[in-house]
Amino acid sequence: MTILNLYLRVLRKLGSESKLAALLVVANLALAIAQFAEPILFGRIIDLLTQAQTTSSGVNWDKLITLIGAWVGFGLFTILAAVLVALHADRLSHRRRLVVMAEYFEHVLHLPIGFHSAVHSGRLLKTMLDGSWGMAGLWLNFFRENCASFVALFVLLPMTLFLNWRLGGLLIVLVFLFGFLTVYVLRKTEGLQGSVERYNTDLAERASDALGNVPVIQSFTRIESEATAMRQISATLLMAQMPVLSWWALAAVATRASATLTLTSIFILGTWLHLRDLATIGEIVTFMSFATMLIGRLEQAVGFANWMLMLVPKLKEFFEVTDTTPTVFDKPDAVDPGRLTGEVSFDHVTFSYDNRRNAVSDVSFTVHAGETVALVGATGSGKSTTLGLLHRVFDPNEGRVVIDGVDIRDMTLSALRRNIGVVFQEPMLFARSIEENLRVGKADATQEEIETAIERAQAKDFIARQPDGLATIVGERGRSLSGGERQRVSIARALLKNPPIMIFDEATSALDATTERQLQKALEAATQGRTTFVIAHRLATIRNASRILVFDQGSIVETGTFEELVALDGKFAALARAQFMADSRPEQPKVFTDDPSG
Ligand SMILES: Nc1ncnc2c1ncn2[C@@H]1O[C@H](COP(=O)(O)OP(=O)(O)OP(=O)(O)O)[C@@H](O)[C@H]1O
Ligand SMILES: [Mg+2]
Repeated sequence: MTILNLYLRVLRKLGSESKLAALLVVANLALAIAQFAEPILFGRIIDLLTQAQTTSSGVNWDKLITLIGAWVGFGLFTILAAVLVALHADRLSHRRRLVVMAEYFEHVLHLPIGFHSAVHSGRLLKTMLDGSWGMAGLWLNFFRENCASFVALFVLLPMTLFLNWRLGGLLIVLVFLFGFLTVYVLRKTEGLQGSVERYNTDLAERASDALGNVPVIQSFTRIESEATAMRQISATLLMAQMPVLSWWALAAVATRASATLTLTSIFILGTWLHLRDLATIGEIVTFMSFATMLIGRLEQAVGFANWMLMLVPKLKEFFEVTDTTPTVFDKPDAVDPGRLTGEVSFDHVTFSYDNRRNAVSDVSFTVHAGETVALVGATGSGKSTTLGLLHRVFDPNEGRVVIDGVDIRDMTLSALRRNIGVVFQEPMLFARSIEENLRVGKADATQEEIETAIERAQAKDFIARQPDGLATIVGERGRSLSGGERQRVSIARALLKNPPIMIFDEATSALDATTERQLQKALEAATQGRTTFVIAHRLATIRNASRILVFDQGSIVETGTFEELVALDGKFAALARAQFMADSRPEQPKVFTDDPSG
């Protein structure tokens, strides 16, 4: 994307307020023209006065008063237009900045988990803030300066040729030289500034990554090394920034020099022409004013180019994110099936995160409504991924997932996800109150429903012990709660949703044996009448599952009840044996007696 394209794209983002924007542009044009008219009127008045002096015929009062009147008129008009621009350009920019930011935010929330695993949240946040502030700045610049500068340089400047073509010609040549210099510096520094911006983003990412892992940094005594790494990135950034700054310093010096050069040249040429009767004193004065004004405009333009150059990488990053399309989206004819009964089928489903290695390959199974199915297998064997495919965190590369006879890609995403409650492997909580975290499950839940959910999730006691009860703020990602407490809030949140299909991904892994057993009972009650998927490493927790799917490297290798699988003496039996030998809880070795039920 070239700078110009980027610039135009940002202007197009004014979209819904294009009428006001157009009005501001018109006001700007008027301002530019008025600004140009003033030196001309001034020059005319001076000529009138000098003529009166030289010809001794007295001042032509009618003409003088008309000219002064016009001057005052233009002056008043300029003030009015300037007020309009000053008042509305800022408001418009700030309004649109917030809109653009909100759109970005919503868009990012829609992007697939795959995108979020690859892009750091610190980077996304920085891109959002930098990009939206950058756009606001660009709009302001456009309304306050760019627009008028554009008219002054490309419309009014050529028109000076009609006033006095010799002086006009000189002015045009000087402006052209100056513009050429700016473009040259711009070209030189564009690539350099791109790398500066990459270091800036690295810095933000590194900082937010470190801030998100303070406990690790402190306990592994990594403070010094993290700080050093940060200083190193800063040093590299500074090194990359220096040449850009040198180029711009050069441009700034050149600007000053050419300002002096232009004014002196106009004055010298003007005097020379005047002595030969080819220019009046009024014209010299007019052109001196033009030159001052145009230099001012050019300085602004250079400043803007400089600033824009810094902004380009930020805008590019912003648009890269907003141009990323979600891979999972509603088909145009997607339907809302209402509340599902929960009959789930995987039909030869294959999925790969990276298109090289399959995380899930050719998985097929059917679960009847109300059944409880457990997924077990070594870590990394594809259990979470399989269930992710069920609530469309991603779509299968091959095969299909069907609920109640409908391919889930034919349902609206919101309908599908309303029907599925998920207790994630990592109980991600918001840095809000416990109650707000629960209400994520059901925004309009009654107090009674909340009570029931926390009771079922065995969370009542610990919530009661919190200083502010349900109103306790749980810290970033729920850090002020223990792992087990977080899990129970996350379970209560899913229960509150009361969906026909439930997914528990390692929901009880962080609980002590007693709480786990209590919760197990509660969950069994809560899962009555729902299709339930349970992923558990502790096999004791899934004894009552109506079926167990054993995963190995992305495929289902065994299926059956707990007892059937033990009798089969395959992968599952080996897993169970290894676990129970390592585990000394007395009730568990019973599994290996001849009568598995007792
Ligand atoms: N976001 C991701 N991007 C790329 N690869 C991933 C991603 N998530 C998981 N994988 C890979 O896919 C495979 C299956 O992962 P999955 O999370 O489904 O395993 P799992 O059976 O749930 O393991 P665990 O019991 O440890 O939770 C693993 O090899 C893992 O490295
Ligand atoms: Mg997992």
